[in-house]
Order: sequence, then structure tokens, then C-alpha cells
Amino acid sequence: MTIIQLPSATAIDEAAGILQEGGLVAFPTETVYGLGCLATSDRAVAAAYAAKGRPAHNPLIIHLAKVEDAEQWAVFDGRARRLASAFWPGPLTLVLSLRAGSRLSPLATAGLETVAIRVPAHPVARDLLAAVGGPIAGPSANPSGRVSPTIAAHVAADLAGKVDLVLDGGPCPVGIESTVLDLTQSNVIRVLREGGLARERIVTVAGELAMGSDDPRPRSPGQLASHYAPRAALRLNATSVEPEEALLAFGPMVPVGGQVTLNLSPSGDTVEAASNLYAMLRRLDESGVRRIAVMPLPSEGLGAALKDRLARAAAPRA
Ligand code: TXA
Ligand code: MG
Repeated sequence: MTIIQLPSATAIDEAAGILQEGGLVAFPTETVYGLGCLATSDRAVAAAYAAKGRPAHNPLIIHLAKVEDAEQWAVFDGRARRLASAFWPGPLTLVLSLRAGSRLSPLATAGLETVAIRVPAHPVARDLLAAVGGPIAGPSANPSGRVSPTIAAHVAADLAGKVDLVLDGGPCPVGIESTVLDLTQSNVIRVLREGGLARERIVTVAGELAMGSDDPRPRSPGQLASHYAPRAALRLNATSVEPEEALLAFGPMVPVGGQVTLNLSPSGDTVEAASNLYAMLRRLDESGVRRIAVMPLPSEGLGAALKDRLARAAAPRA
């Protein structure tokens, strides 16, 4: 496994070559690092599932270079076009009907007739997509069920030996995964995963949103209860900290005590907190504590996504 620090004159071409030959390249997006593979290659997509230890029934997000490329792979209605033109490139994923005759690997879509698509905003992701000239399937570059990587060193630690190249573009600015919206029903837009685009902003373009799935089976396996999990146990909505615990704080009023304290955002800003969440969970985990106390978070802005990830991280482990 090679790690190349960007900018570099040759890195993008080298990465594109590896992808076109069916290899795996971890790359930065504005949300988290992705584990890129050529989305039209069964062999490449199978290698990405294997590297993550991801169950084959959990489909991948297809990343595209340009909004105009998207209609080649999926069926867009007026709602999808409005959302795409408002928020792409950016931290939004749309689940749409797969276009008939699409050359995507059926492994990437887990054999479904729907596909999750996003056009990322990160310049490295965009350069890589342009150089490859085709769709890149990109799950987050972490072992299935664990915390997503927001710096290249997280990827190197988690997927050492399982990925051909890591493009190091520094820390991911948003820090949590994209918001996933299901548009496959004509009468409702469903939030399958809260994420880097705040619900309040989506509502201004799309109107009312339904939450989660009405289907008893998880529609988006990111909805599985235990996910995004550090090794330590989590205690949510903590207003005090026990001597043996670490504290993940939020805002200016922080209880004293505990082994170690990290503050997601001393000023109480949910955007700043999202950018810090995964790296701080990892650092607290590495401190060796058995339990992390997490202070209460607001539900506004990116707070909804933060609370979602923390609730999953706190869920009983499978
Ligand atoms: O920010 C992100 O979205 C990152 C970066 C790398 O783009 N990617 C990411 O991918 O988080 P992943 O594979 O970790 O999460 C993809 C989510 C999963 O919850 C998956 O179940 C859901 O999208 N998904 C993919 N295809 C779907 C489909 N056809 N229907 C419903 N959910 C789908
Ligand atoms: Mg993931």
C-alpha cells in the first residue's frame, strides 16, 4: 500500500490507472474517505466488499464527476433534478431507479433496481473521477461497522495491505457521511441516512421529508442498529463524567473529571462538531478507556446526523 500526499503531479493519473485496472484506491471526499473501485467492474467491486468485510447485500454509492453524467445511470424526475441542481456537487446521495441497460456492476447495487448516486465536491475526488472518466463506487474506507475515516492515517491504520493506494488530501472538511435520500417512491422523499447536508436545507428545496423506512427490513443497511462504532462503550446525554470515563464534550459548559476530555465544538457549532466527531472518537478510543461519556447535542443543523451516529455507536454490538 502506497500513500501519496497531495498535491502531486502524478498521483491522480497513477490512481486512475490503478482503478481502471480493477484496483482499489482510497480517496478524500468532503464527507469521509472513500474506498474507490471501478463501478462497472465486478472484480473491482468484489475486492472492495472483501477489503471492508462488508455484507454483499449492502449496496455502494456511485460517485460521478458531473451532474450532467448522472442521468446516464439513473432515472431523474423533477424532484431529483431540483435536489441535484441545488446540492450537487456536495454531501447528498440520491437513491433513484437504475436506468435500464446501465453497465454498473450488479454487485455495486447489490442486485437492486435502485442506485445511490452522488457527485462529490472535494477537488481530489473530482479530479480522480474526471481522470477515470467513469463511475467510481465508493463505500467509506473503513472496516464494515466501524468509524469512518476522516484523515488518510485512519485508512492506513484500518485497511493496511487491503488497498493499493491512498490519496492523502488532508482532513475531510464535513467529517460525516453524506445524507441519503430515497426518491424511488413518487409521493414521498425519505431520509434513509442523516448526514452532512442538514435536513433544514433540504426542506427548503424539497418540502416535507419522511424519516427512516416504513419497511420492517432495513432499506439502507446503514440503518442497522450497531454501526459507526468505536471499541469503547458509549454513554449518551452525559451531564457529568465518572473517574474511569473519557468525555466527549460539546459547548462551553464542560463538567470536570474523567481520564481525558475532547470538545467537539467549544462554541457549540454542529458543523465544527461534525468535522471533529470521528477523529475524536478514535482518539478517545486509543486512550484505552472502556467507556466514553458524550454530552447532549442539539437536533438542529448537523446535530441530527451527529446524534444518529452516536446512537448507533452506542447500540448493543452484534
Ligand atoms: O459520504 C458518503 O456517502 C461516503 C463517501 C465516501 O461518499 N460514502 C459512504 O458509503 O458513506 P457507504 O457505503 O459507507 O454508505 C452507503 C449507504 C449505506 O447505508 C447503503 O446501505 C446506502 O448508502 N445505499 C446504497 N445504495 C442504496 C440503495 N440502492 N438503496 C438504499 N440505500 C442504499
Ligand atoms: Mg460506511
